[in-house]
Amino acid sequence: MTGIGLWMWRITGKMKRRTFLGTTLAACTSPAFGRVFKTENQAGRRELVARRSTEPLVGMPYPPTPVWAFNGHVPGPEIRLRHGETLSLAIVNELDEPTSVHWHGVRVPWRLDGVAGLTQPPILSGEHFNVDFVPPDAGTYWYHAHANTPEQVGRGLYGPLIIEEAEPLAVDRELVWLLDDWRLAPDASIVEGFDDRHDASHGGRIGNTITLNGRLRPPIRVRSGERVRLRLVNAANARQFALDFGDLPLQVVAIDGQPVRPYAPDGLVSLPSAGRVDLVVDLLAPPSTTLEVTDHYYNEPTVVGALALDAQAPMRNSPPDTPFDLGASALPEPALGDAIEVDIVMQGGAMGGLREATLDGERRSMRDLAAAGRFWALNELVASGYDTAPLIKVARGRTVMLRFQNDTAFVHPMHLHGHHVKLLSLNGRPPTRTVWHDSVPVAPDQVVEVAFVADNPGRWLLHCHVLEHHMAGMGAIVQVA
Ligand code: C2O
Ligand code: CU
Repeated sequence: MTGIGLWMWRITGKMKRRTFLGTTLAACTSPAFGRVFKTENQAGRRELVARRSTEPLVGMPYPPTPVWAFNGHVPGPEIRLRHGETLSLAIVNELDEPTSVHWHGVRVPWRLDGVAGLTQPPILSGEHFNVDFVPPDAGTYWYHAHANTPEQVGRGLYGPLIIEEAEPLAVDRELVWLLDDWRLAPDASIVEGFDDRHDASHGGRIGNTITLNGRLRPPIRVRSGERVRLRLVNAANARQFALDFGDLPLQVVAIDGQPVRPYAPDGLVSLPSAGRVDLVVDLLAPPSTTLEVTDHYYNEPTVVGALALDAQAPMRNSPPDTPFDLGASALPEPALGDAIEVDIVMQGGAMGGLREATLDGERRSMRDLAAAGRFWALNELVASGYDTAPLIKVARGRTVMLRFQNDTAFVHPMHLHGHHVKLLSLNGRPPTRTVWHDSVPVAPDQVVEVAFVADNPGRWLLHCHVLEHHMAGMGAIVQVA
């Protein structure tokens, strides 16, 4: 990092502050990560094709990694729409096994939620499935396979979904970063064993290689002084991120796609499994410097990528004073006075102390459950398939208040499909700001209260987005009728 250099530059650099207005902010939102759709079928429908491919994740001298990918690349093509436009495409399955695509965080009609075996039949090998809907909210989302999910997402079946605001933020550049984590062998191939029981009963399948947009520690070329909107997406099966941007001035402007009143994070930017964070970052560092972005969630700090400032003179020397507030979220406000309250106790896993739980209607000992590859429960119910009684049944339009209590030794980012939930309290204390989540991280021993208006009819999944935890039992159905 360039701590000292940056500090010296900041106090000595004094340039005209206002030259940016009208000159640089106009042509601002061209995505730097530009794999757009090329494939179209005869009907003129864009295609998202799930197939085998290779991707040079690690780079020379390692061979490219065999992956499963949408349109041949990890991440898959960036799907970018204006708010109000229709997302319309054909998902084509060229894998050897069934698949489906879920639009993570988008309040879709239930039939298009893409959970194979729940909201639609799996898309069989050689078949396709058409999708048409208007995403109701602007923001940063992502799409991923939702069949044999730990393996399909783990092999690369995901991509970014960006719904632009009608009035985009005034920035000089926009970057979309999908972070992922791979368990690679010495030849850079993916290590098998997506059903590993140690992973499933501990923190999930944590890998040994972190990629940013499918590359190991890529340098991202930017210009000194630019204001950047950085859309972060955690696409890893199990890894949590806590990112350090060094001394760069930055503001969080959205979480899980929904606007927050901008604030400067105190310390690290936390990005739980499946989560998104939108940042406005001012690249106030000298030309030709490289600013590493490091992850500090685990013991060993790891570089995930680097902002490589080119040699051009700084665009400006202090943050522009243009506003970057995305306004308030348009989500329905929970009616707390009239809420259905549901306690959800998260149980099981290694060091969790769960003795027994119910699987397929039968009480089973933890030893039995473990033998069946099941380690986790919600309210002593172990998920198995989707053909089970809902944990919650609610009439359409009612408010539901969920009280998550984590009685396990691991963090669980709890994802509710089809809705966003408003954070009400953390260990009994109200949050310092209004935050909506589609994936709520609940730390060990924590109690987190959230609420949402159940306004989207369907049988929705509620599950831990450490994908191996869901596979091993941590999931339930919320029925809105
Ligand atoms: Cu991001 Cu059930 O999924
Ligand atoms: Cu979990």
